[in-house]
Amino acid sequence: MASRYSWGLLLAAALLGFLQASSAFEVRDGKNKTCILANFSVLFTVEYNTKTSKEVKVFSLPSNAVVLPESTCGKPNDTSEVLAIGFSNNNSLKMAFVRNAGAYVVRSLTFTYNLSDASLFPNSSETGARNVSKDTDIRADLRTTYTCHSNNTIISMQNVTVLLSNVTLEAYLVNNTFSGKETVCSEDKGSTTVVPSTTSVAPTAAPTAAPKTPDVGRYNLTGCLLASMGLQLNITYTTKNQTKKWELLNLPANTTFSGNCGDSTVTLNLTSGSTDLVFYFEQNSTTDKYFLHRISVSTSLPPESIKRTFKADNDSLSALKATVGKSYKCFSEESIWISNETSLNIFNAQVQAFKITGNTFGTPEECPMDENNMLIPIIVGAALAGLVLIVLIAYLIGRKRSHAGYQTI
Ligand SMILES: *[C@@H]1O[C@H](CO)[C@@H](O)[C@H](O)[C@H]1NC(C)=O
Ligand SMILES: *[C@@H]1O[C@H](CO)[C@@H](O)[C@H](O)[C@H]1NC(C)=O
Ligand SMILES: *[C@@H]1O[C@H](CO)[C@@H](O)[C@H](O)[C@H]1NC(C)=O
Ligand SMILES: *[C@@H]1O[C@H](CO)[C@@H](O)[C@H](O)[C@H]1NC(C)=O
Ligand SMILES: *[C@@H]1O[C@H](CO)[C@@H](O)[C@H](O)[C@H]1NC(C)=O
Ligand SMILES: *[C@@H]1O[C@H](CO)[C@@H](O)[C@H](O)[C@H]1NC(C)=O
Ligand SMILES: *[C@@H]1O[C@H](CO)[C@@H](O)[C@H](O)[C@H]1NC(C)=O
Ligand SMILES: *[C@@H]1O[C@H](CO)[C@@H](O)[C@H](O)[C@H]1NC(C)=O
Ligand SMILES: *[C@@H]1O[C@H](CO)[C@@H](O)[C@H](O)[C@H]1NC(C)=O
Ligand SMILES: *[C@@H]1O[C@H](CO)[C@@H](O)[C@H](O)[C@H]1NC(C)=O
Ligand SMILES: *[C@@H]1O[C@H](CO)[C@@H](O)[C@H](O)[C@H]1NC(C)=O
Ligand SMILES: *[C@@H]1O[C@H](CO)[C@@H](O)[C@H](O)[C@H]1NC(C)=O
Repeated sequence: MASRYSWGLLLAAALLGFLQASSAFEVRDGKNKTCILANFSVLFTVEYNTKTSKEVKVFSLPSNAVVLPESTCGKPNDTSEVLAIGFSNNNSLKMAFVRNAGAYVVRSLTFTYNLSDASLFPNSSETGARNVSKDTDIRADLRTTYTCHSNNTIISMQNVTVLLSNVTLEAYLVNNTFSGKETVCSEDKGSTTVVPSTTSVAPTAAPTAAPKTPDVGRYNLTGCLLASMGLQLNITYTTKNQTKKWELLNLPANTTFSGNCGDSTVTLNLTSGSTDLVFYFEQNSTTDKYFLHRISVSTSLPPESIKRTFKADNDSLSALKATVGKSYKCFSEESIWISNETSLNIFNAQVQAFKITGNTFGTPEECPMDENNMLIPIIVGAALAGLVLIVLIAYLIGRKRSHAGYQTI
């Protein structure tokens, strides 16, 4: 079985690995009560040296795998549980569980492999056990079964990759069996696999996929600014072959911010990767209004663009305007024009600058778009009511007339 896998063959081997049935394991305590049930397929990739070369051994959990006695349902005053599986000659895979009031996690996954085991690591120039250990993101609510059918539970450790798939497991069992409720891993939910926040489409073509609306970010400067809004930059650029494209850039939830509370200007500086977006608010003491008067943008552009950096600045804006002491609120999407190449789309905004009382938003002032949206149902409702009234009156008049008509006969 001495085999030398090229990395290209690895994928094929990986696929083969998944065709193999999952193995089932059970851990019981001294009273024969079951505390852990687990079912999964594992694919190991181990790199080791022979006298002449470097080997990459790929194998799935052998059928001789058994639960080891060091598995435990916890000791007094210790809520940890351990599933330890041994296979071939002194190789093992260990999952250490911990819990809190609401959830349990696999705190660490430890793989111990024995380079002296010639059945797995033929011709290894080194001997003895090697240990690799890693935290995992396997986490489930208590009294639920963790399920993850995706291939994605990949745990890479030094010379080793451990790939779990088709996982069904539950620790801290109450009734010796799976609880029937599930916590599904994020990989299986699909949509959470990170989607690039940028989408580019040719100006003429219809967008192939509707671009995701941005996360609503909260930006909060003590004493002078409260803001909660989703932000999306729309940037037009010229590609190397002279076509124009526009790109939507969503500011993510982990955008960092800083700012400055001045008497006449409030600055909010948002930074995410290479993107920097700065808002400048001003107030007009005559009208008692504050508004966004300047936006400055800098970001990088995709490789296909002629220019790789992008900058725009507009200091004659009058956006997000509201009365001092009150908040600006807009549920509708609004677009602020910055330059011919760039605009800023704002979603689900509530913003207040300068005077803030008690660290909460003041009375909201609805944006004109929201007011129009409110007006439409009112107009439609009023029109319908009017129509009903007209029909009713017409009916009553008609009835009276025909009544009168019969009487004359
Ligand atoms: C533990 O329980 C299982 C079935 O629930 C049974 O087959 C086994 O014999 C029991 N072992 C002991 C030591 O009682
Ligand atoms: C990783 O493998 C190399 C040989 O391929 C070996 O020299 C090294 O000691 C290994 N590291 C660990 C942590 O096992
Ligand atoms: C468990 O904790 C209790 C109270 O904290 C203590 O009295 C007891 O001795 C502990 N038992 C062990 C085995 O540590
Ligand atoms: C695992 O990966 C293979 C190959 O990429 C794919 O065909 C299969 O559908 C995947 N399984 C799951 C459950 O995602
Ligand atoms: C996944 O595990 C279930 C049992 O838990 C088994 O029936 C099924 O065949 C496995 N699927 C794969 C692709 O290993
Ligand atoms: C365990 O089983 C008992 C009796 O079968 C049932 O009353 C109880 O609700 C079960 N508990 C859980 C957590 O499933
Ligand atoms: C603003 O931040 C402060 C301190 O971080 C926090 O106490 C307050 O609740 C925040 N206000 C809002 C509206 O998020
Ligand atoms: C982005 O800007 C371009 C050019 O101004 C415009 O045609 C397009 O509709 C905008 N897209 C969005 C989603 O704002
Ligand atoms: C310009 O380049 C883009 C990719 O960079 C390509 O999709 C497009 O078809 C090209 N257009 C022309 C007119 O060559
Ligand atoms: C922000 O989140 C994105 C994914 O949403 C991630 O790629 C990036 O590293 C994160 N940045 C920071 C500073 O955490
Ligand atoms: C905004 O923040 C970035 C990063 O912290 C900094 O480099 C930049 O100078 C700031 N811009 C302004 C106008 O404060
Ligand atoms: C304040 O608003 C008034 C009325 O719109 C305008 O005439 C005046 O120039 C504004 N003042 C400042 C400092 O912008």
